[in-house]
Amino acid sequence: MKNKLIQSVVLPSGIRMPVLGQGTWRMGESSLEHQAEVDTLRVGLDLGMTLIDTAEMYAEGGAEVVVGDAIAGRRDQVFLTTKALPTHARRRDLIQACERSLSRLQTDRIDLYLLHYPPQWRSLSSLQGLRYWRSSIPPVEVFETLQELRQSGKVRDFGVSNFSVKDMKLARQYDNGLTATNQVFYNLNHRGIEWDLLPQCRSHKIPVMAYSPLERSPLLNNPVLQKIASDHHATPAQIAIAWLLHQENIAVVTKTSRVDRVRENSAALDLRLSESVLTELDRAFPPPHSPQELQFL
Ligand SMILES: NC(=O)c1ccc[n+]([C@@H]2O[C@H](COP(=O)([O-])OP(=O)(O)OC[C@H]3O[C@@H](n4cnc5c(N)ncnc54)[C@H](OP(=O)(O)O)[C@@H]3O)[C@@H](O)[C@H]2O)c1
Repeated sequence: MKNKLIQSVVLPSGIRMPVLGQGTWRMGESSLEHQAEVDTLRVGLDLGMTLIDTAEMYAEGGAEVVVGDAIAGRRDQVFLTTKALPTHARRRDLIQACERSLSRLQTDRIDLYLLHYPPQWRSLSSLQGLRYWRSSIPPVEVFETLQELRQSGKVRDFGVSNFSVKDMKLARQYDNGLTATNQVFYNLNHRGIEWDLLPQCRSHKIPVMAYSPLERSPLLNNPVLQKIASDHHATPAQIAIAWLLHQENIAVVTKTSRVDRVRENSAALDLRLSESVLTELDRAFPPPHSPQELQFL
């Protein structure tokens, strides 16, 4: 772990990606919240959270519509990420899904287009729809289509999400070394990826995008985190985000629909944690001592 903050990570393509981004899961669900969500994202952009992460899945495209309005007139300041469902992974479906996302986002290009879930999720009963992929779509078709989208310029880079070590090995057989990131569940309370997935990605120079850095907020009630925050005149959310930002080759996406909280969260970019604080956090939130199954939300 490095005790030094950087403001961007370099993708295998050489393109830089900001280290702190704004998530949009649960945005776009109510028209009453639309303007507040747009305003929050804009304030976040002003504060340097220029990566915006969304997905066609969120509010069935509604979150992409919010993002489209938030970045209107300032597209060039934004590093835009969205995600395709594996149920849209057939060549024709993926190209159409990408076109729909571009249209909702009111842009002609996506900076980073992610496949939201990997092949083995198809067998989980909670994601029945993804079985479609196992039965009929070979990974070669998916990764060739992602490369085709990249060549067309509609997508500047592509990547994956919720991919385990095994999934990443599979991806590398088909991606021509172009998979730009793996977006995974990673925070102080869930450090399993440090055992194998993180070293694997680092060995291929693939930055990892950590999602749910606040564990969707329960983490913030941890007494050790609260004490460290109070010692730093900071908040538990800022410490949780800063801890991730202190690591090498990690970008972080956190979500809020509140302007006060986007101000709070963006200030994590300026927090410096000492070696002794990092050690204290390691004691309270121990790293893994054995392989763990990849967790997800
Ligand atoms: N690839 C995937 O499968 C996947 C899965 C999950 C998430 N993601 C992406 O990652 C983003 C972030 O993850 P997330 O939304 O799950 O979780 P998160 O950022 O860990 O937490 C968001 C929750 O915490 C609250 N919150 C935010 N800042 C806070 C603060 N300073 N103090 C107290 N509460 C705060 C938010 O409520 P308010 O909005 O009311 O402030 C929201 O309920 C998502 O929005 C999405 O873009 C990707």
